[in-house]
Amino acid sequence: MTDKILISLTVNGTAYDDVLVEARHTLVDVLRHGLGLTGTHVGCEHGVCGACTVLVDGAPARACLMFAVQAEGADIRTVESLSDGDAELSDLQRAFSEHHGLQCGFCTPGFLMLAEGFLAERPQATKEEIREVVSANLCRCTGYQTIVEAIDGCARQRRGEGRQ
Ligand code: FES
Ligand code: FES
Repeated sequence: MTDKILISLTVNGTAYDDVLVEARHTLVDVLRHGLGLTGTHVGCEHGVCGACTVLVDGAPARACLMFAVQAEGADIRTVESLSDGDAELSDLQRAFSEHHGLQCGFCTPGFLMLAEGFLAERPQATKEEIREVVSANLCRCTGYQTIVEAIDGCARQRRGEGRQ
């Protein structure tokens, strides 16, 4: 029989004090299968593609590389935290839509959380810095330019520099 471990963590503002995990479970396993938050996608499961990117204590992290037990006490944000769940998109999501920063959309939750964490840290980010940051994640559809434009547009709007 596999030993299970109880962990406590906060996900999208909700505290969970009794999440039962196995030592082998990753954070993305718990988010998707334990908590039903399937917005976080799983691509390579090897830390390469970034589809599983979430915020851990505000910093982007690959949820497929982190064991669930390592999230003990952490504050996790997934893509579900960006909108209010009532069809109202966040400014960053709207920017992706308006700049055509997605095609199939498989990579999009990861890019959104990567960008959300990055812009919180670097609100004055230049386009070059944004381009460097998005190179951490893989997108096989867009060619990246529209993703860069979307993030830059959102950053400019947050800085009060006009429309997205
Ligand atoms: S699924 Fe986590 S990096 Fe690819
Ligand atoms: S939009 Fe298809 S992989 Fe990025």
